[in-house]
Amino acid sequence: MSNICPIMGLDHLEFYVGNAKQASAYFSHCFGFTTTAYSGLETGERKATSYVLEQGDIRFVITSALLSDHPIAKSVLKHGDTIAVVALEVSDVVSAYKHAVAQGAIGAIPPTEQENEYGVLRYAAIRIFGDTTIKFIDRSDYSGVFAPGFVAKASVPTNAAGFKAIDHVVGNVELGAMNRWVEFFVRAMGFDVQMHFDDNAISTDYSALMSKVLQNGNKTTFNINEPAKGKRKSQIDEYLEFHNGPGIQHIGLTTENIVETVIHLRRCGVEFLPIPKTYYENLEPWVKEIDVPVEKLAELGILVDRDENGYLLQLFTKPVGDRPTLFFEVIERHGSRGFGAGNFKSLFVALEREQALRGNL
Ligand code: FE2
Repeated sequence: MSNICPIMGLDHLEFYVGNAKQASAYFSHCFGFTTTAYSGLETGERKATSYVLEQGDIRFVITSALLSDHPIAKSVLKHGDTIAVVALEVSDVVSAYKHAVAQGAIGAIPPTEQENEYGVLRYAAIRIFGDTTIKFIDRSDYSGVFAPGFVAKASVPTNAAGFKAIDHVVGNVELGAMNRWVEFFVRAMGFDVQMHFDDNAISTDYSALMSKVLQNGNKTTFNINEPAKGKRKSQIDEYLEFHNGPGIQHIGLTTENIVETVIHLRRCGVEFLPIPKTYYENLEPWVKEIDVPVEKLAELGILVDRDENGYLLQLFTKPVGDRPTLFFEVIERHGSRGFGAGNFKSLFVALEREQALRGNL
């Protein structure tokens, strides 16, 4: 199936925000990104302004509308700051788009060629859940900065936080919609279902969710969650309420030194889900064999999990905007290809404590 639409990797994630200048400063200073390109009034773009941020293999584009009737202004009004575009690198935009549309995708941008003195950038986009789009992009004949219309930004590299790559992208959809979207990713974009977690694996006394993990090649991982029935409102329901419908919930970013990364982020004021001390008292003996002392894990609130292939270290930020919607996961993998299933329970208890503080449980 993966040959239908070979995806070479994630090209970028585009955020639609209320204030691109300030949001990009937050990601630069706190998450260690360097601003590499810019488009806005000074470059002749009258309707929107965008900053391209890079670190390791990660590229974020942070965009705001300059006009109140611009679709991005409407997106911000409806969803708050959000990741609106997931851009995937493909070798043939036209066939990726045509295949997806033939399989039922709704087109958002038909195949388009944008040209300047640096060559041709090819792209197209389809709609997925909510107002989120998947953009297919081919840079093979384009050597300029990010895209035609952008200029290189001579910004001082910030102290990188040590992030290397996007590990996975996670979307939340409504109750009953997960399987439909999973099938769509398989049919329209050649993803394969790798794992699934049902509500028995991911539940607390109060709330539950179900999740499926999709991969295209070994570079692009997309997880889709839906709420399951619980005694109270689940974290997914809270997201759907404040995001006004389905959308991107979190992004997992890899680091090779989670301790240094988390110290950097904490120093900058990034808040993480607090993990109770009892979590560290009950860790299995194998944890003592990893490189990071348990005391350090406890001090920084880092979780550990293991499967048959190895272990992983992870932790989760609190929502990065005002609405309890988008957040980030910091992950250091040592063989494990899982998502920390062993931590789901303690994590959800921590999440629910935060939900209760917001009056949403
Ligand atoms: Fe995750």
